[in-house]
Amino acid sequence: MQADEVRNIILVGFMASGKSSVGRALSRHLGWPRVDADEVIVARAGKPIADIFRDSGEDAFRELERAVMRDLCEESGRIIAGGGGSFIDEENRRTMLEGGIVFYLSARPETIHRRVIGRNPNAPARPLLAGGDPLERIKELLAERSPVYSQAHHSIETDQRSTDQVAQTILDICGPALQKKLKNGRAE
Ligand code: S3P
Repeated sequence: MQADEVRNIILVGFMASGKSSVGRALSRHLGWPRVDADEVIVARAGKPIADIFRDSGEDAFRELERAVMRDLCEESGRIIAGGGGSFIDEENRRTMLEGGIVFYLSARPETIHRRVIGRNPNAPARPLLAGGDPLERIKELLAERSPVYSQAHHSIETDQRSTDQVAQTILDICGPALQKKLKNGRAE
């Protein structure tokens, strides 16, 4: 993807790395719609993610996720937030890298643990963290996934940055290409 071709801005990273909130901030700044792949999956399946995992298993969830990501990446002028595992799947990864500029929002395991468990007891259930010690599970999964997340076009550490700071960093990186694209007020 060339710097003058910002078709979509795609956010990837572990659960609670800030993809949804940064996506909302970017959407406000750019006037581009924000699409959360998990929300589209839930709408298509007609049930929460935890229920898809429980009723049909992770493979079925990943199949749905691939179909949704293919559809989302065909559009342009969107902020797309992928679920935490979406970029790990090889087919999805290709779709996403071709569909826009992909940003990996990274965070340390302790930060993720605090965000998932500590601050929001009403957060949606995360089936992959169920059972066992969640911090250990986060460490394990993150160690496995980090090298793959790093294949994103850009990586941004979020531990010490607010949502708006992360969004601004992304806007700075996309800057010239976005200005060109936004010349007429909206994405082409
Ligand atoms: C998953 C992360 C979740 C959701 C599903 C699987 C993962 O999304 O897609 O539970 O594999 O890390 P969030 O990253 O939005 O929590």
